[in-house]
Amino acid sequence: MSESLLIAQVTDPHIRPSNISYRGVNVRQHFLNVLAVLAKKPLDLMILSGDLASVEGEPESYAWIRQALHDFPHPYVLMAGNHDHVVRMMNAFDMPNSDEVTQGMLYFSRKIKNRQMLFLDSSPYRIAKEQLEWLENKFMESDEPTLLFVHHPPVICDCKFMDEHAVLQNIDEVWKTLDKIPQIQHIFCGHYHADKTVIYNDKFIHLTPSTAFQIDTETPHFIIKHTRPGWRIIEWKNKQINTHVEYL
Ligand SMILES: [Fe+2]
Repeated sequence: MSESLLIAQVTDPHIRPSNISYRGVNVRQHFLNVLAVLAKKPLDLMILSGDLASVEGEPESYAWIRQALHDFPHPYVLMAGNHDHVVRMMNAFDMPNSDEVTQGMLYFSRKIKNRQMLFLDSSPYRIAKEQLEWLENKFMESDEPTLLFVHHPPVICDCKFMDEHAVLQNIDEVWKTLDKIPQIQHIFCGHYHADKTVIYNDKFIHLTPSTAFQIDTETPHFIIKHTRPGWRIIEWKNKQINTHVEYL
């Protein structure tokens, strides 16, 4: 195996189209503060795993994020969440001819230091059949261990409000594919604004906290648990994955 890989997952920044706060949180400043910390780490990749925009893919939010990332010293990839709009993202980040977009969906693979990572688009609250076929086909060619990133957790997480109101709509269909892929042991998600790891069908599903605010997992009502910005660090060393969450 090759040298180790260091990744940061940053998710759900919900950048407002203007510099006003959201529920008292200056989400833009939170995002900048997180970038400042991550810029100093020796990252091989930063993954922005969706809900970059505030509510509905506001172009002003994407323009601001692009500017905020202008001097970020590490490579990064962008994923879409349910509050994003893939076409507006493509336009804002000059991605129209990118291999990352197929039939209006933002799904793609990356290989860094000979390690494979796959990224899916669950922005319409579903993972489309085309993506599941693409995923399965990837492992007809290859047997290599792979990390999977998708905005929505493909599982009920015992996070009461989000499980009730915001769950992925085709979980059973998704697992018909995932169960055929032992090469994927770890799935990294956002969307739930929480730090949690769930084990399901022998795979680890890691929920990563938002940079904006965290949602209480214990109550069926929408309650903000706290507003410390969080992110996830993933270290891939030999055959081992070590991961933990950090907060400002
Ligand atoms: Fe989301």
